[in-house]
Amino acid sequence: MPKKATTRKPSRPAIKAIGILTGGGDCPGLNAVIRAIVKTATLRRKWKCFGIQDGFEGLLTPGKIQELTPQSVQGILPRGGTILGTTNRGNPFKAVVRRGGKDVEIDVSHKLLRNFSRAGLGALVAIGGEGSLDIARKLHAIGVPVIGVPKTIDNDLSATDITFGFDTAASIATEAIDRLHTTAESHGRVMVLEVMGRHAGWIALRAGISGGADVILIPEIPYDMDKVAAAITRRSKRSKFSIVVVAEGAVPRGGRISSVGKTRGGVIRLGGAGEYVGAEIQKRTGIETRVTVLGHLQRGGSPTTFDRLLGTRFGAAAVDLIHQGGFGRMVALRTPKIVSATLDEACGKLNTVDPAGDMVRTARDVGIFMGG
Ligand code: F6P
Repeated sequence: MPKKATTRKPSRPAIKAIGILTGGGDCPGLNAVIRAIVKTATLRRKWKCFGIQDGFEGLLTPGKIQELTPQSVQGILPRGGTILGTTNRGNPFKAVVRRGGKDVEIDVSHKLLRNFSRAGLGALVAIGGEGSLDIARKLHAIGVPVIGVPKTIDNDLSATDITFGFDTAASIATEAIDRLHTTAESHGRVMVLEVMGRHAGWIALRAGISGGADVILIPEIPYDMDKVAAAITRRSKRSKFSIVVVAEGAVPRGGRISSVGKTRGGVIRLGGAGEYVGAEIQKRTGIETRVTVLGHLQRGGSPTTFDRLLGTRFGAAAVDLIHQGGFGRMVALRTPKIVSATLDEACGKLNTVDPAGDMVRTARDVGIFMGG
């Protein structure tokens, strides 16, 4: 009897080893993910693990792949940063080379694919934010069996409820606000704190509400400088100090985002929003004002319990996803479960603060001025 025709996917060889890399800006919790992947892959699946140094660049440069074992990742759970190193450069689809005295961009993804195959790796785990996940998506399209793990302190990836690193960054910003309170009160000053977050106001909003700020300015709500000054003046009648939290991507109504140039990878570098707001407040209200830029302090140091746990859950789930053949996908949190989403979904849309949402409403309910 003729057999029934079945459609089968071309089978991949059984996995013996996987590669792990971290791309883009670092973030607390990366080492928790690396550790969980190594432990789950080696102990549960009996696969070997290889760490690729300095993001995708490590697959283009010789000597940057090293074996990771449960012993070599011992003790890294509470450590900030990434033991693998990272970089904002190294996009294989836009590698910058010097030609004829000029920097030009060329596509070297074929070289990465070749090096990946030669390394004998059956899968690649790319731990990164929007930029790195977009590279992972393109690598998957040319045949690299890749899966993603979302990270960023900005919490701006829409395919997951939350990214690890965000809780730590927001906690550091909250502590900074607590510290600014005491000195603001002693001197009767306005203290402006600029925090990171790029085009999303999550860090400013979470830390601002948790730290008891008086004004929070986020990119999603263009602010009116006259109204900000009026809010500070009103408050000065009953309290001798004010705390203003400004997201680096906050924009004055009808004005432009504050930037300090571009990275070597051509990405706009934000900065200066706090200085601008601080100078305008002092000019318009006459109240002595000081500005603090929290900067990379909010990205450094040990991850919170939340970020260690989420990183560990993501790392273990990444190994499961490889085992299930879920290439071209990334692990994600859909509370309370760890699920997966396609890399297309991950790169499709930024997760920004809803100006009419619950968090902004809460801020307004407790008397925080949101800029407009
Ligand atoms: O995306 C994370 C982030 O920390 C942003 O909040 C910030 O704008 C940017 O990276 C800073 O990048 P760099 O480390 O290149 O200065």
